[in-house]
Amino acid sequence: MKHLVVLTGAGISAESGISTFRGNNGLWENYDVRQVAYIDSWYTNKALMLDFYNRRRRQLQQVKPNEAHLILAELERDFKVSIITQNVDNLHEIAGSSTVIHLHGELTKACNESKTEVIDIGFNDITLGDKASDGSQLRPFIVWFGEAVPLMETAERVVRSADILLVVGTSLQVYPAAGLINYTAKPIYVIDPEPLHINHNGVTLIREKASKGMELFKAFLVKGKPLST
Ligand code: OAD
Repeated sequence: MKHLVVLTGAGISAESGISTFRGNNGLWENYDVRQVAYIDSWYTNKALMLDFYNRRRRQLQQVKPNEAHLILAELERDFKVSIITQNVDNLHEIAGSSTVIHLHGELTKACNESKTEVIDIGFNDITLGDKASDGSQLRPFIVWFGEAVPLMETAERVVRSADILLVVGTSLQVYPAAGLINYTAKPIYVIDPEPLHINHNGVTLIREKASKGMELFKAFLVKGKPLST
């Protein structure tokens, strides 16, 4: 089976009702990214950060995978599919994808402050005073700006072994994740409704929302249909 590697970002979950980070009405337009997504802020205002991620977790409980997540899971019939996601939601897993690498962490998990202990918390809130077994405050299992991205090496290895790289719904503005496209010389397909300017040879842009773009991409991969709408 050919190895299809898929890098996903917030745009793949947009049609499920989860906001993207950048762009019109994106999360970073409505919240101060410095206050809720940087490790420094954790030490100055834990309550605010817990509240932000508790809200994200509660919202996740209300949403479902969309057609794009579902098609990616279906493609496992014909391809070896590895998903590398920057998303902290669990919609790929709920859709049925079996190999999902969460580069930026997972909302349904918590960890101790040194990130050596990770526990499943489902959709429960984390509150100030909830302690890990080492006595530190439990925190969201999220990779904040200023922290290492421990799964990068794994992700680089996976991209190197791709026969095809598909990128769905990411602005490719956040490194090191955005640099992953440089680990392959194979064809790259990008699904995004916006005209992304990607400095890389061999990129085909499918200018559609994720669900429509995935339908076109599946018909192209499985039935050899043209990629145009
Ligand atoms: P962004 O919000 O930066 O980019 C979302 C991309 O999705 C944009 O290119 C949009 O044009 C596109 N998009 C919007 N609606 C779409 C739809 N219906 N279908 C397909 N694409 C759509 O999100 P990310 O690139 O995922 O990290 O952001 C990367 C990281 O920045 C996040 O993981 C997060 C954030 O800060 C951390 O918080 C550490």
